[in-house]
Amino acid sequence: MMNRSAEFAARIQENLATAVLLFDKDLHLLSINSAGEGLLSVSNKRVSGMTPKQIWPKSSFFYEAIQRSLFSGSTCIERGVDMHLNNNQKIKVDCMITPILNGESPEEILVELVDANAFLRVMQEVNQQTVQEAAKESIQGMAHEIKNPLGGIRGAAQLLERELDNKDLFEYTQIIINESDRLRKFIDRMMTPSVKPAKDEMNIHEVLEYIISVVRAENSKSLNIVKDYDPSIPDIKADREQIIQAILNLLRNAVQAIDKDGLITVRTRIQRQVTIQHRLNRHIIVVDIIDDGPGIPPEIEAGAFYPMISGRAEGTGLGLSIAQQLIQSHGGLINYERRDSNTYFSILLPLEQKNGQ
Ligand SMILES: Nc1ncnc2c1ncn2[C@@H]1O[C@H](COP(=O)(O)OP(=O)(O)O)[C@@H](O)[C@H]1O
Ligand SMILES: [Mg+2]
Repeated sequence: MMNRSAEFAARIQENLATAVLLFDKDLHLLSINSAGEGLLSVSNKRVSGMTPKQIWPKSSFFYEAIQRSLFSGSTCIERGVDMHLNNNQKIKVDCMITPILNGESPEEILVELVDANAFLRVMQEVNQQTVQEAAKESIQGMAHEIKNPLGGIRGAAQLLERELDNKDLFEYTQIIINESDRLRKFIDRMMTPSVKPAKDEMNIHEVLEYIISVVRAENSKSLNIVKDYDPSIPDIKADREQIIQAILNLLRNAVQAIDKDGLITVRTRIQRQVTIQHRLNRHIIVVDIIDDGPGIPPEIEAGAFYPMISGRAEGTGLGLSIAQQLIQSHGGLINYERRDSNTYFSILLPLEQKNGQ
């Protein structure tokens, strides 16, 4: 049986957000924690006993730096190192290699890795929350500005109608009254605090299939949509209607962004150890809506998640703002990124939700 402090140490290891790998002095892997398994997309079983060269066959930095540390007995710290993963993806990591000395000579080598983009993501998130708060305020301010004169316009149209002898002109006063009512309802709907999600088990791929069929039906042109699903993703607990609304908004934007032989990719993945809204999630699902269009126009990029910011003449500018609010009320986040001439809208959703959420 493990004693208390060993148990404690093991528990810390397993819950660290930092990937930790330990090699013996012959450079065989002794242990890797779950953050490490997640970051490298490998299992403990598979890599146990492997050398750095076997673990990072395409990233020479690691086996060279580990060798160097072993021989020199000195620590190596490097930021933003490219790390190739088995699935041909490349990520940037911050890396620290520490020889653990026994007297003069190293007994073991400790390697710590952190996904450099995780920090980027947290920064974007803080930015997003400020955006959402500002958005709510600006909507409420604007709603008042519109609702007050609206009452006046409607009242005046009613008075005018009473004075009119020519009944044919009622058509026009009725338009003023009906449109004022419609606008008023629209504003009330926008101002109501967002409805709490009604969560139920749902399968993300079933939902995506549905959304794709809706978007196909809306468009007369044939759409080139590639699906790249991770079939191992389990069902999630979420509000189906809200998730549909959010992803639909993103997919419609992608359709509007591409040209006639453009390509849209819908991709699902699981990621481990990701912090969203100040909460570390063991697992999240990521749904990427990727298109090969030009991306958000630079002049509106900073405010694209604000309501009523649109780059299109006929746009309402509400799509991204509503999508972001719906996903955030699920404890998740939508990120925007341009990468390799592609536009990425990534929906991050926690897989396990805490009680009462
Ligand atoms: N996939 C995309 N590619 C390029 N630009 C986009 C994309 N998604 C959104 N945008 C830009 O962001 C703006 C805001 O989007 P949105 O909030 O959905 O409002 P709307 O679509 O009504 O304009 C769009 O007008 C467009 O300029
Ligand atoms: Mg839109």
